[in-house]
Amino acid sequence: MAATSPTPAGKAGGFLSDIQTLRKRAREHINEGAVTPGYHADRDTVVKLLNEALATEIICVLRYKRHYFMAKGIHAESVAAEFQEHAADEQQHADQIAERITQLGGEPDFSPEGLATRSHAEYVEGDSLADMIKEDLVAERIAIDSYREMAEYFGSKDITTRRLVEEILAKEEEHADDLASLLDNLGR
Ligand SMILES: [Fe+2]
Ligand SMILES: [Fe+2]
Repeated sequence: MAATSPTPAGKAGGFLSDIQTLRKRAREHINEGAVTPGYHADRDTVVKLLNEALATEIICVLRYKRHYFMAKGIHAESVAAEFQEHAADEQQHADQIAERITQLGGEPDFSPEGLATRSHAEYVEGDSLADMIKEDLVAERIAIDSYREMAEYFGSKDITTRRLVEEILAKEEEHADDLASLLDNLGR
């Protein structure tokens, strides 16, 4: 990646690129879309990490859907409603991640081939309601750890992707909390 040209003695104090340089670079690299020369992350690695996160989200959608329909069958309406809500959240995460991949010039991998292998979390059906909730909690905790690591990796190299994964991370923490409460209620 080309080094930032020095800022003329100005208000930016050598930290921000001057506006002319920014505009010139934006015109030169117009084909790069949202990726500018100031982008400091390794794009291939970022796309690969995001594709793994995408696979994880898809697996989570599938698992929550399965749990939703099975829980409905065992008359646990409130738990089922929670599964359904989580499935919708995971679908939204998948969409946001796919969107970011295309912004970076990559291709979102929606192939069913190898989906479970690319995913960090597992697809476990679970025999009872408690089993389902436990499996979902395990998957959420895996997602929490991997999003935290991703956020740390992106750091200041790719702020937009970092903010996206931080936003998703906060949601996964909410999910884990919901599941822990459900499990608690079930034990009573
Ligand atoms: Fe998610
Ligand atoms: Fe989640």
